[in-house]
Amino acid sequence: MKMDVLLGLQWGDEGKGKIVDVLAPQYEVVARFQGGPNAGHTLEFDGIKHVLHQIPSGIFRSQILNIIGNGVVLDPIILKREIDGLGKFSIDYQKNLVVSKKATIIIPTHKLLDAAYEQSKGDKKIGSTLKGIGPTYQDKIGRSALRIGDILSPDFREKYELLLDKHKTTLSFYNFPLDQLAEMEASFFEAIEFVKTLNLIDSEYVVNEALASNKRILAEGAQGSLLDVDFGSYPFVTSSNTMTAGACTGLGVAPSRIGQVFGIFKAYCTRVGSGPFPTELFDATGEAMRKEGNEFGSTTGRPRRCGWLDLPALKYSIMINGVTELFMMKADVLNIFEEINICTHYELPTGEKVDKLMFEITDMEVKPVYKKMKGWHCSLANVRSYDEFPVELKDYVSYLEEELKVPIKLVSVGPDRVQTIMR
Ligand code: GDP
Ligand code: IMO
Ligand code: MG
Repeated sequence: MKMDVLLGLQWGDEGKGKIVDVLAPQYEVVARFQGGPNAGHTLEFDGIKHVLHQIPSGIFRSQILNIIGNGVVLDPIILKREIDGLGKFSIDYQKNLVVSKKATIIIPTHKLLDAAYEQSKGDKKIGSTLKGIGPTYQDKIGRSALRIGDILSPDFREKYELLLDKHKTTLSFYNFPLDQLAEMEASFFEAIEFVKTLNLIDSEYVVNEALASNKRILAEGAQGSLLDVDFGSYPFVTSSNTMTAGACTGLGVAPSRIGQVFGIFKAYCTRVGSGPFPTELFDATGEAMRKEGNEFGSTTGRPRRCGWLDLPALKYSIMINGVTELFMMKADVLNIFEEINICTHYELPTGEKVDKLMFEITDMEVKPVYKKMKGWHCSLANVRSYDEFPVELKDYVSYLEEELKVPIKLVSVGPDRVQTIMR
């Protein structure tokens, strides 16, 4: 059996959580492979809304084994809080949730460092979620991080103190106050005791043995391809590989064992935090999109920047991920517009039109070139099949398929599980 991968093709928040939950009945395992509590994945069913940050989105399906993989950076405090918050769902964590011993631990000073680095950048700040993601991956690559397996070792406290000293030196360089540290540490060590009670495993064996015994695995991406540390709009990115290749390193699965790659995109674009966004709308249209799409961050509550769909960016994401099926989300948000724009090219300051995300483009003021399409301008609330789609929405889907050369197999018309149309 091969492992399928589901990931965001834009700047995150495409609706990954909803779709993992929708697809979960077809799988036996759901696994997170990168990122950490910077993610906020929303699921809605039976009139209730849940936002998951670190727990994979298969957790509400009792037959699913949910894996937090080695590529993830894990905040024990947030994990404990998340699990406590799901108390009423009688989820059997011993059976349904496992954590890789090779996942990296976010310690309290990683969060302080995140804040110190952002403050020092002034108006060049990345707009990080301040969950400690960048500093933790920095320590992982710098070979000084703590991993989940370390918490079982008798000298965990000494290992912790060693890393803490290193962080304190850096924080004093930035003159960053440590007043909150004692309180954060108390919660951290309490949460570490809790994490010890979870099922901590060598997840690469579990994943590969599952594939060998023909079990179906879905890898759940966090963030989006345009936030990838190699291919996103660097430096305005997150610190992990958010792409299909990240699922290989983040779970220990060989590239030859990747099956379908489901690429999720919104029918328009959003971004939280700083960085280039060529189709961003600063006017009433952007404001209307934000209001209609309820575009406020699931993790930080910040208003999301909104703009029209960007085809050069989408084509780039499809290319680097090897997307085999596209899922278009939040089509209903465009109901309010009589006319819809789609960016087909960027016009460079020289007047040249390109449809590629070359290295230089991050620092350029580019002008989006738009194709205009007639909007459907009606509610999709009661639409339950593709045949019931208004003709303008069918045209939108067909045009995108023609341009992107990948079939759009799913269109989402609302946040609830049931508002999902398969084609
Ligand atoms: P994720 O990070 O990719 O899982 O996405 P988020 O959960 O951060 O943001 C997506 C938001 O859109 C959530 O509030 C979802 O409930 C909501 N959502 C998902 N699909 C749809 C849709 O088709 N229509 C509308 N209106 N909202 C949706
Ligand atoms: P999900 O999984 C949207 C953005 C932040 C910031 C940049 C770096 O819900 O799609 P970081 O905290 O990683 O150092 O922030 O990345 N960002 C996200 N934007 N959705 C996310 O996750 C994000 N995770 C990080 O806003 O611009
Ligand atoms: Mg999100």
